[in-house]
This record gives sequence, structure tokens and C-alpha cells, in this order.
Amino acid sequence: MKIITSVNEMQEQAGKWRVEGKSVGFVPTMGFLHEGHLTLVQQSTQACDITVMSIFVNPLQFGPNEDFELYPRNIEQDQKHAEAAGVDVLFCPTAKELYPQELPVKMVAVKRTDRLCGVSRPGHFDGVVTVLSILFHVVQPTVAYFGRKDAQQVAVVQGLVEAYRYPVKIVAIDTVRESDGLAKSSRNVYLSNQEREEAPFLFKALTHAKKLAKNHSTEEILKETESIILNNTSGKIDYIEMLSYPYLEKIQFAKGTVIIALAVQFSQARLIDNVVFTLE
Ligand code: PAJ
Repeated sequence: MKIITSVNEMQEQAGKWRVEGKSVGFVPTMGFLHEGHLTLVQQSTQACDITVMSIFVNPLQFGPNEDFELYPRNIEQDQKHAEAAGVDVLFCPTAKELYPQELPVKMVAVKRTDRLCGVSRPGHFDGVVTVLSILFHVVQPTVAYFGRKDAQQVAVVQGLVEAYRYPVKIVAIDTVRESDGLAKSSRNVYLSNQEREEAPFLFKALTHAKKLAKNHSTEEILKETESIILNNTSGKIDYIEMLSYPYLEKIQFAKGTVIIALAVQFSQARLIDNVVFTLE
């Protein structure tokens, strides 16, 4: 596995692959790798000639009071995991390398961001589309892999590449979970033992909500979901919503493809999870 930290070197390498006609699969991450990330790699190595993973904790997508400093990092361990999973090139630039100057043009994600994390994390998706726009130009992937755990991110990124005609295919992969249902997340290490026991109730509540969706209103579903979280966890509910997917519009009943998504703040970790499904 080759490690590249320079933007120029990465872009030159991508140009060579292009000339050679190689397909490039890209897995953008913020590191502290777990099985969720590595499942994305697996999909890429199966489908593409070359797999590039980026590790970059993007300061632009963290709000001033969020966990940028605290975000877990372990680059040595990540290198081992990435290599074992079959990553060909690990691209890990510094912030100075990726953003050498104040950005002269800013990107704002205006659609699909007025609900869920778009509301509780103002500016978050602007930071996500900005960094991905740069990374897509540097890595020039044929396919980019994203996890459905961040379903709103998938929706926003799909909007970005469609509107701006990026020549990259976005592939979304199902959420990888612990055996008790908790969605794997780099932030899970910041749960206390007690919170770790409570955290599976997020997915339990979502699974129950999905069952109710066929013959209950959004209001009824959200009320029940909320009470499962309140009765079984010490976390503070940031949001629980049922919306159309991927447009994220309010709905009174589940019809077509919908998302039920929640965010719960524990003492040191804010966890998100969702279920997306289709009802006729
Ligand atoms: P990060 O949180 O590191 O996640 C990297 C990718 O792994 C994302 O596409 C995310 O959805 C996926 N992922 C995380 N947990 C997963 C799980 N349990 N199952 C399946 N996939 C999972 O998302 C980001 O980084 C950043 O916003 C990024 C896209 C890199 C831009 O900075």
C-alpha cells in the first residue's frame, strides 16, 4: 500500500491511472477505521482496479462547539487496517496541504439540508461538499463509496454530483452494525459502559418504528420511537424524524421511499442512525 500526503502527487497518480484506463474506487473517511469503513473498501476492491482511501478529519465540517479536537485518531492502526483490507493508496493530506489558502469560492449545500443534521449542525454539509469536491478532483474516482449510516450525507452528495456533473458514480452501502444492532461508528469509543449498553435502543426504536410505518401516522410513529429512547437511554434526543428520501420532505404517512432518522446526544458522543425503506 502506498501512502500519499501530497495533493500534487495524488493528482498525478490519478492522471496516470486515467491514461492507463484503470477504474478507481474511492472511500473517503475521517479515519479511526472500523468494519463500516472496511466494508466500503471491500466493495471497491471487488468492483474496481484500484482502491484509494482518504483519511482526513475535515475541520470545515465541524461547528465551533463540536468535537473536531476530540475526534478519535489513530493513523498507525488505520494504516494497518487499510492495507489488510486491500487499499492500494492511502491519501492522508494535512489540513494545510488540502486547504493551503482561505477558499476563494465557497460551496453551500442548499437542498436536502433543512432537516436532520442540516439543522442541528449548521454548515456541516457545506464542509462535506467542499472537501468532497476537492477530493473528487484530486483522486478522480470512477466510483465513490458511502455508508447509508450517514443517509443525509449520501443524499446531499448525490445532489452535488448530479447537479455539477461530476463524472463519478456514487454507491451507497448498508449500515454495518455490532451484533446488538448498534451502528458501528468511530464515536462509539466515547460512550461510557452504561451508555454503550443503552445505545442499541436507538436501532431497536428505529426497527419498531419501521414496523409501525405501514398503518400509523408520522406523529404516532415518532411519539413511540421517542418514548423507547427516553425510557431506555440517558441520552438527550436531538431529533427523530420521518421524511421522504432522498428529498427529505415532511410527510404525514409513510409512502414511497422514506427515512426514519434520529440523533441522540450522550455525554461525550452524539450518535446518529436511520432506517430507509419503501412502502407502496
Ligand atoms: P466518516 O465518518 O469517517 O465515514 C466515512 C464513510 O464510512 C462514510 O461514507 C460513512 O457513511 C461510512 N460509514 C461510517 N460508519 C458506517 C457503518 N457503520 N456502516 C457503513 N458505513 C459506515 O462521513 C465521513 O467520514 C465524512 O463526512 C467524509 C465523507 C469523509 C467527508 O469528510
